[in-house]
Amino acid sequence: MPKSAVKRFGILTSGGDCPGLNAAIRGVAKAASGVFGMEIVGISNGYRGLIEGDAHELSPEDFSGILTRGGTILGSSREKPFKGRDDGTVSDAEVGQDKPELIKETVERLRLDALVVLGGNGTNTTAHLLSKEGLNVIGLPKTIDNDIWGTDVTFGFHSAVDIATESIDRLHSTAHSHNRVMVIELMGHKAGWLALYAGIAGGGDVILIPEIPYEAASVARDIEKRRSEGKAFSIVVVAEGALSKEEAMLPKKERKRAREKMPYPSIGYRVAAEIQAATGMETRVTVLGYLQRGGTPSPYDRVLATTFGTAAAELLARGRFGRMVAMKDACVSSVPLSEVADKTKTIPLDHHMLDTARLVGACFGDEH
Ligand code: F6P
Repeated sequence: MPKSAVKRFGILTSGGDCPGLNAAIRGVAKAASGVFGMEIVGISNGYRGLIEGDAHELSPEDFSGILTRGGTILGSSREKPFKGRDDGTVSDAEVGQDKPELIKETVERLRLDALVVLGGNGTNTTAHLLSKEGLNVIGLPKTIDNDIWGTDVTFGFHSAVDIATESIDRLHSTAHSHNRVMVIELMGHKAGWLALYAGIAGGGDVILIPEIPYEAASVARDIEKRRSEGKAFSIVVVAEGALSKEEAMLPKKERKRAREKMPYPSIGYRVAAEIQAATGMETRVTVLGYLQRGGTPSPYDRVLATTFGTAAAELLARGRFGRMVAMKDACVSSVPLSEVADKTKTIPLDHHMLDTARLVGACFGDEH
């Protein structure tokens, strides 16, 4: 058996779940235990399990047969152990619970040489803070949002693109039958990757993303132009983080407040109301929601998650801590967690896929 710097480690999944988490757990575990002989402790419900000491040893039966299973066998939570401690607000320590200290105690009690954390931006930022506290941590990038800095792609993203694309395809036929405008709102948090990919893959006529603030009049003009050319239906793909030009000009806090006061359940409904008011066309809304996060991972994500998982096992064996596994220019590599922390990877305005979308006639709501 090859030598390994780590004999025993803990693994957890944190933040919103996504397809591919189990495939990644399996990848880490099979390589770590099968190739390097490491012992693995599964931590329940993300960082909360570390705080509460909720953990159990994983045996090969636990990580066998889970490649295709959606969700996470470990459970997840949005627990942020450093919230309040480092952001200037009241610290947990002040109210009697220092969560990072509790985590360190659990790591010691469970005799863990290292931690492997599977998560998004928040999870990897916490991983960096735990590294700064002296723990050996390796991060893996998961999220349907594809918004993690330092990696070209995250697992979960392409499964969500597949689900969103199939939904757009289905909306196309009913939009066509009824000569309607169909608005579909997709997730993505503050990034437009999911809407852009699914918008291109599904042939969306309008794609609204946070990176390009939109004007309702521009969207309406595009839809009317299509109607005047004999296309009496339109598909409008809206990222949940999309915002109007007016909103984009507001300071962050005011923008948040304005959004909270918006008389619509979500941005998709507002865009639909704007279109209907400006064009008089019958407009319907679909908010795809958590369907984008559920179910079995696509073959692409199974491969990516397995690749990332096994790469994490190799980092453990070599004792290369404080890093997140990443894909860069089609090569598996890793980046320091310190570089990933507190950043978001949004779509650069010179990204080739924005050109691709425009060249096939998609409107981003920014044309005059
Ligand atoms: O980060 C993944 C994500 O699904 C985002 O796309 C979405 O904004 C958010 O999580 C929803 O979070 P929650 O599960 O807390 O409702």
